[in-house]
Amino acid sequence: MHVLITGGCGFIGSHLTDHCLAAGWKVTALDDLSTGSLQNVVHLAGHPNFRLVAEGTTSAGVVDELAGSCDFIFHLAAVVGVRLVVNRSVHSIENNLQGTEIVLRAAAHHRKPVLITSTSEVYGKSVDLPYREDADLLIGPPTCARWSYACGKALDEFLALGYWREQKLPVIVVRLFNTVGPRQSGEYGMVIPNFIRQALAGQPITVFGSGRQRRCFGYVGDVVKAIKALSQTPAAFGEIVNIGGTSEISIAELAQLVKHAAGSAAAIEYIPYHDAYGPSFQDMHRRVPAVDKLKRLIGFCPETPLESILFETIDWMRAVQQEPARSGLRAAAHVA
Ligand SMILES: NC(=O)c1ccc[n+]([C@@H]2O[C@H](COP(=O)([O-])OP(=O)(O)OC[C@H]3O[C@@H](n4cnc5c(N)ncnc54)[C@H](O)[C@@H]3O)[C@@H](O)[C@H]2O)c1
Repeated sequence: MHVLITGGCGFIGSHLTDHCLAAGWKVTALDDLSTGSLQNVVHLAGHPNFRLVAEGTTSAGVVDELAGSCDFIFHLAAVVGVRLVVNRSVHSIENNLQGTEIVLRAAAHHRKPVLITSTSEVYGKSVDLPYREDADLLIGPPTCARWSYACGKALDEFLALGYWREQKLPVIVVRLFNTVGPRQSGEYGMVIPNFIRQALAGQPITVFGSGRQRRCFGYVGDVVKAIKALSQTPAAFGEIVNIGGTSEISIAELAQLVKHAAGSAAAIEYIPYHDAYGPSFQDMHRRVPAVDKLKRLIGFCPETPLESILFETIDWMRAVQQEPARSGLRAAAHVA
């Protein structure tokens, strides 16, 4: 089995790469290294079954060639993170829409099965919990830049399912909920890496909004296991499937938990949304996935407890902070 993983140097993509290699599969990672990092795959330098192509999904010729030589495509490449989406809307909309269009066209050209990663953001402000895959979507207005990411991903879904219906192209759409663990960057607005970084530095842990908003966090190791299992499940083709943890926690409680797990004396500060993201920012109060479809298809859902995920992520972040120079050198060697 030879798979193409777009976004293979990103947080989830690099874990999926490891998981596929561990199964004895061959992996080609296609990544423009915009938000992903060579350090996420530097341990794979010289691996006989791993190849990195440092290009973008918007390079149609490259994507077409790679699609022709693989057996399955996992499409994860996208601009991700509220901060990036809000600050660089034009780039993120164009990058995400064009990339998916090109990947799907190449998959159809070579008749290769493809899994598209969408997001729980598409459920928008819906309060119809838990979110079921066939529910209506309640996305906010275009004056609030955040929703461009959800709209773009929803359009990716329509396009993928269009290929399934019209050309019988085997496609799977997964809606990932908050996915967390080692290698996630806090640079673009992800909450857990930011809380951990602040806790370890003894800086105030900054909670945006009231902190009463609630989320479910899924362990990246469970999520990539589910993604790979779905790719091997014919009944998943033509389907949209939620992947996420179901255990809820408020962001204020999360800040306390991180502080405790990191053994930090940091204060917890609350910052109004409009100071963090501008005056028109909107957020949703709760977000919980319905996972019965996922369980029916593959027999499990992400269940690793949040405390374990936090301990592992804190250990990883401590290790990275301790040896940035050495890992930078290894990453440079990997490019060469
Ligand atoms: N992390 C989450 O909680 C979460 C939740 C919902 C959905 N998702 C989806 O999962 C996928 C992976 O997200 P992630 O959290 O690993 O983010 P990430 O930013 O770590 O990974 C995205 C990767 O794609 C690469 N990339 C971006 N645009 C590209 C392009 N045009 N061509 C090639 N590479 C490109 C980046 O360099 C990066 O390595 C994304 O599609 C995202 O929308 C993630």
